[in-house]
Amino acid sequence: MTVPQPPEPIPGARLLFSLDPSVSHLNHGSFGAVPIGVQRAQQRLRDEMEANPLRFFIQGLVDRIAHTRRHLATFLGADPDGTALVGNATTGVAVVLQSLGLRPGDEVVTTDHGYGAVAFSVERECRRTGAVSRTLPVPLTASDEEVVEIVRAGLRPGRTKLLIVDQITSPTARLFPTAAIVGLAREHGVPVLVDAAHAPGMLPISVASIGADFWVGNLHKWAYAPRGTAALVVAGAWRERIQPLVVSWEQETGFPTRVEWQATLDYTAWLAAPAGLFTLRTLGLDRVRAHNAALAAYGQRVVGDALGVAPADLPEPGGPTVAMRLVPLQPGVAPTIDAARELRARIAERLAAEVSVASWHGQGWLRLCGQVYNTPDEYDRLAARLPTLLAQG
Ligand SMILES: Cc1ncc(COP(=O)(O)O)c(C=O)c1O
Repeated sequence: MTVPQPPEPIPGARLLFSLDPSVSHLNHGSFGAVPIGVQRAQQRLRDEMEANPLRFFIQGLVDRIAHTRRHLATFLGADPDGTALVGNATTGVAVVLQSLGLRPGDEVVTTDHGYGAVAFSVERECRRTGAVSRTLPVPLTASDEEVVEIVRAGLRPGRTKLLIVDQITSPTARLFPTAAIVGLAREHGVPVLVDAAHAPGMLPISVASIGADFWVGNLHKWAYAPRGTAALVVAGAWRERIQPLVVSWEQETGFPTRVEWQATLDYTAWLAAPAGLFTLRTLGLDRVRAHNAALAAYGQRVVGDALGVAPADLPEPGGPTVAMRLVPLQPGVAPTIDAARELRARIAERLAAEVSVASWHGQGWLRLCGQVYNTPDEYDRLAARLPTLLAQG
């Protein structure tokens, strides 16, 4: 069976990272990997903080955060005045949910491709307020037009107080037509939160042109920022209503500082995040994106072939730009979340490969990522050894 040619490697890129060379790191999507230069930049900021904590926190930190925020917002194509830095996408979602003022009878609508922790957050806010949540089933192979139709049919204008859609989904690596969904929700007066945890760095994005009421994206995945760096972008009409999860100083300053300032935390990840963008730009944004997506596609094909999956059955729900690809596992392999976790651990331990294993509607899926530090032989090795491991049960 012919497998597509892997992309040209980016020479030296692996040396930019401190990843354990004895392991194939094929799951950049879950927790990212921070380039050494960015780690160093953060360490220098920590050294500065420890040299004089009072001066670091009291003299100019709020301004330095604002400066960083403007830089990151520009990269995202977002309004800097509508952008707040937060620790991660989960926090951004929780900030939005608890600022909505949900009431009994209101509902929050999500899709069945959503992230598990976000679903828990929605459930908790609904329990707290008496609102309800509803999940729209979206078939993996649904076209963009079908997705928009499913969402259209699923909204209950007046009752639906928030629709949450993912820009790139986690369990299914699917790209959703977020701008079209936002447009139709707007026609029905339904606010939309776009969970774009994976988008910054992976896709060319313009948050402003998506036009969502709320958008949250991680810079610590595909934009090489230190962990703890995410952006919450809020449309003008909502900014005054957005409350931080933890009340601290800067309440009078308003959005976004009111949300960002969370007292004595380590803010060095945010301040070092521009070094991540610098790395990305130095490698070449388009080159990195094309490389990563092509390598993930290559990995999907070689591992899919090894498991006997016909090319036509290898989903491409993200299209050619997404650097994460799925390989279906045999029925009965990883049918539950616990079984998926156990299989991930077994692959890590026995094959020295880090992959994501998800269970989605009782079907097990392997999710493979491509990153500049990966090489085709890492997927070849996994393909050669995985069938035996799976056969052992
Ligand atoms: C779609 C989606 N939303 C939210 C998150 C949570 O991100 P974080 O752990 O940085 O809060 C993830 C993490 O992978 C994700 O894939």
